[in-house]
Amino acid sequence: MLKKNIVLIGFMGSGKSMVAKELAKLLKREVYSTDQIIEKKERDSIAHIFETQGEAAFRRLEKEAVIRVSNSSQGIIDTGGGVILDPDNVKQLKKNGRVFYLQASPEMIYRCIQGKKNRPLLNVDDPLAKIKELLHQRAPHYEKAADYTVLSDGRTISDMTQEIYQIVKSLA
Ligand code: S3P
Repeated sequence: MLKKNIVLIGFMGSGKSMVAKELAKLLKREVYSTDQIIEKKERDSIAHIFETQGEAAFRRLEKEAVIRVSNSSQGIIDTGGGVILDPDNVKQLKKNGRVFYLQASPEMIYRCIQGKKNRPLLNVDDPLAKIKELLHQRAPHYEKAADYTVLSDGRTISDMTQEIYQIVKSLA
């Protein structure tokens, strides 16, 4: 069984938070969410932090949160979708963790985020076009950071969780 942290990366709406919760139950491990750490520290929502402090300030807070969660052991780390944009974050997360990329198509992401207002970057006139644009920029970063890729399209949360669980069990 893997002793290191299980790090979940992937675009918004790919299922990271739900998979993290299910994995935590199965493995009896803690979940550390970078977004939640930021919200707790700032006593504010991610959407409002973006609005009042801007994206650059959010990325600085995210970098601090990454350093904090990377020092945990045997945790499940639920990251924000943009965490891979900073190579220092990836280095930190890999220091004591194995990285699982939840790979989803723009169409699936679009379906998952519809009706939700908590994704400031997708709060635009044409969210699907924005998803495609961001995914195009980010896909190489996700792929480079990933130790394992888990397909998200057409699969249930338990299905993805089981796949990760089997991999984690087989690792030293
Ligand atoms: C972001 C993803 C969000 C959150 C913030 C920025 C991104 O997290 O960190 O809105 O840049 O992709 P989720 O991936 O959990 O939605």
